[in-house]
Amino acid sequence: APDISVTNVKAHLTQFQSIANANGGNRAHGRPGYLASVNWVKSKLDAAGFTTRVHSFTYGGATGYNLIADYPGGDANNVVMLGGHLDSVPAGPGINDNGTGSASILEVALQMKATGFRPAKHVRFGWWGAEERGLIGSAAYVNSLSSAEKSKIKTYLNFDMTGSPNPGYFVYDAVKGEFPAGSLALQQRLEADFKARNIPTELIDVGNRSDHRAFMAAGIPVGGTFTGAEKIKTAAQAAKWGGTAGQAFDRCYHRSCDTTSNINDTALDRNADVIASTLWAVAA
Ligand code: PHE
Ligand code: CA
Ligand code: ZN
Ligand code: ZN
Ligand code: ZN
Repeated sequence: APDISVTNVKAHLTQFQSIANANGGNRAHGRPGYLASVNWVKSKLDAAGFTTRVHSFTYGGATGYNLIADYPGGDANNVVMLGGHLDSVPAGPGINDNGTGSASILEVALQMKATGFRPAKHVRFGWWGAEERGLIGSAAYVNSLSSAEKSKIKTYLNFDMTGSPNPGYFVYDAVKGEFPAGSLALQQRLEADFKARNIPTELIDVGNRSDHRAFMAAGIPVGGTFTGAEKIKTAAQAAKWGGTAGQAFDRCYHRSCDTTSNINDTALDRNADVIASTLWAVAA
């Protein structure tokens, strides 16, 4: 798998920041900065030869959009899907939440093409709308699929907040919690990938807090990584991960200060590298 360039990922974050700046400071559902974000990501994927489509839905009196991108080739009956939400809250530009996941899977997608990756499985990406309004876009997408189409999706990997400024390294818990992610194989693969880079991880019960939820509810194995949001980093966590104990993983979570300054480059790079290595292994 390629080593993903954090410089490239950060260039995509700068684009999201510019889009927010030009559109009232946010990229929220129903606001012009959201559709501008969709169109910009779509243009990058179209230029790289992906088959893209915009899936529209209605929520809260506004049209919402999911961007779906298929990498040409691979077994259409054996689909690996990666996704993250592209919308922000209205309060700010949403660069860590979730410019990071969005930009990282975009860069991984572009590197598939750049390296000429020819996976045996079919690979599809989703950028979800209206996550911040209650996981709306991803649910609309899953509900739009026939049961035959759903059953072709063998894996869904979700990335929501992967560059938190005071980062933790969390992997979605497959077993424990109210809504366990369900796939022990994906959990263990992600854990092993961090471990191979000498990065300690913790499991986290992400419950129903992001877009993996609709896939899980459809019986699709899901997994993901996360660097933390509003919760406070403990002394034990600061001892193993560095950063500041007694402070939130992301003090700018859902605030106007969630800008390009609100990013830990190391966490962003490590997660992007893990995303690529996981995709290369799972789709091989
Ligand atoms: N989905 C949450 C948000 O967008 C963030 C989150 C992701 C929280 C994963 C917990 C686990 O605000
Ligand atoms: Ca890298
Ligand atoms: Zn959020
Ligand atoms: Zn989020
Ligand atoms: Zn690296």
